Amino acid sequence: MNVPKNAGTIMVVDDKPSNLKLLGNILRERGYQVRIFPRGDLALKSAVSDPPDLILLDVTMPGMDGYEVCRLLKEHQTTKDLPVVFISALSETDDKIKAFKSGGVDFITKPFQVEEVHARVEIHLTLKKIKSDLEEKNRILEKAFDELKTAQQILVQSEKMAALGVLVAGIAHEINNPVNFIKSSTVGLQKDISDLQRLLRAYEDCQSSCPEKDCSARLVQVKKNIDYDILICEIPEMVSNILEGVRRTEEIVDSLRSYSRLDSAGRQPIDIHEMINTSLSILKTRYKDKITIVREFHDILPVSGLPGKLMQVFINIVGNAVDALEMMDQTRNSMIVIRTGIHSIEGSPFVKIEIEDNGPGIPHDIVSRVFDPFFTTKDVGKGTGLGLSISIGIIKDHKGFIEAGSATCGGALFSILLPADQENV
Ligand SMILES: Nc1ncnc2c1ncn2[C@@H]1O[C@H](COP(=O)(O)OP(=O)(O)OP(=O)(O)O)[C@@H](O)[C@H]1O
Ligand SMILES: [Mg+2]
Repeated sequence: MNVPKNAGTIMVVDDKPSNLKLLGNILRERGYQVRIFPRGDLALKSAVSDPPDLILLDVTMPGMDGYEVCRLLKEHQTTKDLPVVFISALSETDDKIKAFKSGGVDFITKPFQVEEVHARVEIHLTLKKIKSDLEEKNRILEKAFDELKTAQQILVQSEKMAALGVLVAGIAHEINNPVNFIKSSTVGLQKDISDLQRLLRAYEDCQSSCPEKDCSARLVQVKKNIDYDILICEIPEMVSNILEGVRRTEEIVDSLRSYSRLDSAGRQPIDIHEMINTSLSILKTRYKDKITIVREFHDILPVSGLPGKLMQVFINIVGNAVDALEMMDQTRNSMIVIRTGIHSIEGSPFVKIEIEDNGPGIPHDIVSRVFDPFFTTKDVGKGTGLGLSISIGIIKDHKGFIEAGSATCGGALFSILLPADQENV
């Protein structure tokens, strides 16, 4: 017979030396390592310090019987999972139930049938191996799950940072305009004030020293030098420019504040059109003068959700359209159309938002992958490939749907469906 090496270690516990010898021989023949013990307490000690793969345990032994040994094995951390097969001459149901209750997995009856011993031993060793393989796989899966959870947190964080980056760049640009406004008016005002100071000094000099006639001629000259008439008109204009610049800066800072507060109130009724407009104003510096934005807004139903998160979705999709259009010939008429309407799925009303561009479109072979995390066709450093994967997560959190496809003009078409908030209809 072909005897496998290291087939497993089996502990046999029986008070009768003849049984130990017989079972030992039957098992060794099949390549098992066999450790024999005439007493339960000795077997217990050995199993704890060096656990075997399987224990064959006699039920009736003087001193500690098989049930007691089995109960103690099941209480010990290192031996609790060891399969215990009872050896018994008794076939009464009562004893079998007692054996299973104490933690045994099977029975071998005396007198031994060699084939039965082999079959039962093999089954329990295989089951033990399958169990430990499963436990190992489970450990690997749990580890992978923990890693996925951490990766997801990092993804969400990096997407938040990416959205913040777009926002900050937009805000920086918007604030730069009024600040330049304030700066140039302040420089002009500074010059006008120093000219006025010259005039004032001339008045003071006249008061203290000049004869009246010389004095008025000198003042006329100074006024001419400083363009007095223009200066007098320009000062209030520059002051109002500065005030206008300050007002616009305040307005931008306010919108930034409300953006950062958007989701703190949790789910809330959202005006989809207002949200699209706000998203577009954040992206304005990226598209203005280059791309025509067409809003085809129709009557829609109320939607509830997290406005900051939904804005993130629009900023991503419109941002992608701008990226795609920037790759095209800049002399053609680049366009992004944003269309809203109502749609019904199995009788339930949904708000539909379509974002369509007349860029190069998404090639057929990649359209099914655009929502995959890290999928990007952009150059290193330009895209992380997270925008759409985060967007699909946000839309699913709102119990909605998002789809990528082709517009009739050949560009990309993104369709979003969000369930209408029927309570607020
Ligand atoms: N309007 C579009 N036209 C053409 N291709 C698009 C369009 N929108 C998305 N794609 C394709 O889908 C890919 C994935 O988009 P996604 O927003 O997930 O990542 P990304 O824009 O590349 O990077 P990120 O948004 O993380 O900066 C893009 O790299 C691009 O190939
Ligand atoms: Mg993107």
